[in-house]
Amino acid sequence: MPVPTHVFDPPFNIIRSSHAVLDVTNLEASRKFYESVIGLHVEDVDDKAVFLRGSEERQHHSLVLRKAAAPAANRLGFKVANDTDLDKAASFFSENGVSYAFAEQPFQGRTLQFTDPFGFQLELYATMEKRPHLLRRYDLYRGCHPQRLDHFNVFAPEVQGTVDFYARLGFRLTEYAEEDGENGRIAAAWMHRKGNVHDFAITNGKGPRLHHFAYWVPTAMNIIHLCDVMASSGYLKNIERGPGRHGISNAFFLYVRDPDGHRLEIYTSDYNTMDHDHEPLRWSLRDPRRQTLWGAPAPRSWFEQGSPFPNQPLREPAFVADVVIAD
Ligand SMILES: [Fe+2]
Repeated sequence: MPVPTHVFDPPFNIIRSSHAVLDVTNLEASRKFYESVIGLHVEDVDDKAVFLRGSEERQHHSLVLRKAAAPAANRLGFKVANDTDLDKAASFFSENGVSYAFAEQPFQGRTLQFTDPFGFQLELYATMEKRPHLLRRYDLYRGCHPQRLDHFNVFAPEVQGTVDFYARLGFRLTEYAEEDGENGRIAAAWMHRKGNVHDFAITNGKGPRLHHFAYWVPTAMNIIHLCDVMASSGYLKNIERGPGRHGISNAFFLYVRDPDGHRLEIYTSDYNTMDHDHEPLRWSLRDPRRQTLWGAPAPRSWFEQGSPFPNQPLREPAFVADVVIAD
């Protein structure tokens, strides 16, 4: 199936994935998980929401937990280069039939919310309130020392169409998994704006749903330490997969589930991709090193469970990819 070519002059300039807004059913339980276990810093809190960030981040939040009746991936946030990009985005969406609205969001400048043609709910902004970063405040470090939000990964029922849409917006393909044979279909794609392996990964599956969001940590030892912390603090069952090393992205990883089942990846040791002539790497769906370099397949829950977007009906995937599942 067609691999998109890089677009270097997109209609507006997204610079990176920025923040996740999650609907959670118990603010206190979620705050405890992300602050005390994972180690994110709480920047603000009220009776409806908790705002958190990693130690390196100079802006107000990279995770917003919102109290809600049901868990959901409320919105995925991307930062654009400047305020005029928001107007350029609005024009592009108008011309292409994408629904959008400007919205007031706490601690953020002008924010443009849109639902893409596949049902993913995103928002764009150029400015957010700044805070001093905490990178050298080692006295405040907890959990796995999460440093910055790195990427989102979504379940998409129409992978090829979704990949083509985001390629138009300037997302560049770094790695992809494909069926073998002449008519092999792309089953998953990793696309970036900021110059590492990805800001947005698109995975074949029932959707639209968020598969996971990821925080970058300094070393693999931070991930191993988090396993010890979770095992000794009552969160053993929240460890879903890993630790391990992905073939794709070369990242050392751990997947955990929060109290509502939202999936968080702890992630480190991927690589740079900013060269204009960086070529995407193809993986065969049958190569076990793709999921885990050491060969262990992912559990069934990893292929089947995800966070829906509010009010977006779920669709079955266009095809069922022949993946290896650990049962
Ligand atoms: Fe990931």
